[in-house]
Amino acid sequence: MRTLTGLQPSGKLHVGNYFGAIEPAVRLQEMGEAFYFIADYHAMTSSQDPAALRAHVRELAIDFLACGLDPQQAVFFRQSAVPEVNELAWILSTVCPMSLLAKCHSYKDKIAQGIAPNHGLFAYPVLMAADILLYDSQQVPVGKDQKQHLEVTRDLAVKLNEIYGEGTVVIPEPIIREDTAVVAGLDGRKMSKSYGNTLPIFGEEKPLRQLIMKITTDSTPVEAPKAVANSTILALYRLFASQPDYAAMVADHERGGIGYGDLKKRLADAYWDFFAPMRARRAEVLADPGFVDAVLAAGAARAREEAAKVLGRVRRAVGLV
Ligand code: ADP
Ligand code: TRP
Repeated sequence: MRTLTGLQPSGKLHVGNYFGAIEPAVRLQEMGEAFYFIADYHAMTSSQDPAALRAHVRELAIDFLACGLDPQQAVFFRQSAVPEVNELAWILSTVCPMSLLAKCHSYKDKIAQGIAPNHGLFAYPVLMAADILLYDSQQVPVGKDQKQHLEVTRDLAVKLNEIYGEGTVVIPEPIIREDTAVVAGLDGRKMSKSYGNTLPIFGEEKPLRQLIMKITTDSTPVEAPKAVANSTILALYRLFASQPDYAAMVADHERGGIGYGDLKKRLADAYWDFFAPMRARRAEVLADPGFVDAVLAAGAARAREEAAKVLGRVRRAVGLV
């Protein structure tokens, strides 16, 4: 079974990225062949800052390794280190109806936010399909927000096979984690950089604890029972705490007598403990500056080998050779 996923290098990793993308990827690397990459081409659709791009790529590589990506088990590389992906994207774009891209939520959302749409943003799902199909990926773990992009990928793969013959490309399956599919942000909305409501997974302890203290709550007094259903504190605590500890916090909500401030402190402790092993690993990675480059170079070589195989097959199928 081959698993592939990509992550955009767009800033500090947050808890939503961790549970929606990183943790499932780390778990899956043990169960077969894993291809994980840093989607630097994709990042260029929303930010054009060379220094930031370089810094973010490096930071993401370090953080992914810190979170348990094992370069002995997974092929880890930069998207742009395999430029073959652009050729496959082109081939896919010739079978991709404009209407399929025009209805993509992420594109429509960006326009609604007032972002001037460039062609890269419009064609984003086609490049993503190429990322996936270039490696004969069988399963693709992503957060819920990427579901539609996976549907586009499958549509394009089916179309290519219909036009050029079965087996031209492998049809991938999405893996969407329903339980933690949407991690809540500090304000209760989806945790996302674009909402400024994120809880980073790495950083200094004090500011991170201060962020947790800023979680939006209602004004229920200390003594009164607190609503369980919409509690952002509980939604986040569930990710970090054991089942009994979680049940205890639910009971404390229902009983009343404990203020939100204390509940947030308990959440902050659980959060800090949860990421302790990753912080330790991160310090090790940082202490060995050549390590990250060596991992990415080896990953790129391995990925290119596979890409050449698949692209060769596709080129023959479409009549380019
Ligand atoms: P952001 O919304 O902060 O810009 P990205 O779009 O870069 O995050 O997401 C990177 C990965 O993390 C994607 O696989 C996405 O599905 C996942 N992800 C991001 N935010 C969340 C969230 N709040 N809950 C679950 N998964 C998330
Ligand atoms: N679009 C994905 C995101 O923003 C990143 C990505 C690019 C990706 N190519 C991919 C994810 C291929 C999975 C497979 O999260």
